[in-house]
Amino acid sequence: MSKIAFLGAGNMAAAIAEGLLAKNPTAQADLVCFSGSGKTAAALAAKTGIKQAHSLDELLTGADTLIVAFKPQHLAAADPRLADLTAGRLVVSVLAGKRIATLTKTFPRARNLVRTMPNTPSQIGAGITGWCVRDPLTAADHAIVETILSALGQAVEVAEPQMDALTAVSGSGPAYVFEFAAALRDAGVAAGLPPETSQKLAVETLLGAARLLARKNIEPETLRNQVTSPNGTTFAGLQRMAAGNFRGLIQETVLAAKARSEELSKDS
Ligand SMILES: NC(=O)c1ccc[n+]([C@@H]2O[C@H](COP(=O)([O-])OP(=O)(O)OC[C@H]3O[C@@H](n4cnc5c(N)ncnc54)[C@H](OP(=O)(O)O)[C@@H]3O)[C@@H](O)[C@H]2O)c1
Repeated sequence: MSKIAFLGAGNMAAAIAEGLLAKNPTAQADLVCFSGSGKTAAALAAKTGIKQAHSLDELLTGADTLIVAFKPQHLAAADPRLADLTAGRLVVSVLAGKRIATLTKTFPRARNLVRTMPNTPSQIGAGITGWCVRDPLTAADHAIVETILSALGQAVEVAEPQMDALTAVSGSGPAYVFEFAAALRDAGVAAGLPPETSQKLAVETLLGAARLLARKNIEPETLRNQVTSPNGTTFAGLQRMAAGNFRGLIQETVLAAKARSEELSKDS
């Protein structure tokens, strides 16, 4: 693996570094991190055995790829020397909402720029990351991007104009699922179950159903129909969901999140 540098060493950098090391434990020597205060970089280095750089020059010396993993608001005040220091290097950003045009201002001579949108399950290697790219990737750079993003789970390439919709589905999606889990738990309590039992039933039902869906790799409607007997209990519940326009509500939810993503990334 060619040398990968992390600018920012918080949760997302840790998830990528740990994912890379889980697949390739000998990669420690190829990973280096730097953070503003040095505190999180020191912690990540201590936890994983990767190197901590104490300056941007040290971070980028010999690095082929830079993963930009600080907060989106740090970009505007980023050290202007990054323009020269990243010349000829592949830059991969995980900054939510920062467009390629904006990233180009800080990294104008990068050999290519990849904008990504991971989601929170990436912290356990079960994420799905959307990504788009400034220029078509060479085969070698495609392999680097795949290696990095597979450390977080699965990945899907989209055109940049689709990033707001992707953010609304997979970026915000885990929160919708957490809300659904809470609603199912509360409904179970209302139906007479003890809270702890209801929470366990809700969580394990979501998990099991999601795993079954992923394993079968078929339309969710097919699996839904398989568990729905005519005029049975599931049918009664689904009828109520349809009467409450559940699908319409989810569509409005995603469109609202997409609209907010567009607003937030308008000038960034
Ligand atoms: N967490 C997620 O699930 C998730 C999902 C999608 C996208 N993202 C994106 O991932 C990025 C990082 O999120 P996070 O959750 O990892 O944040 P985090 O845990 O708060 O980490 C932020 C990091 O930035 C460092 N930093 C601050 N100022 C810096 C500077 N001037 N130069 C270099 N490093 C600096 C901090 O280091 P010190 O404190 O040591 O200075 C820290 O290591 C964000 O842009 C976010 O949009 C995260």
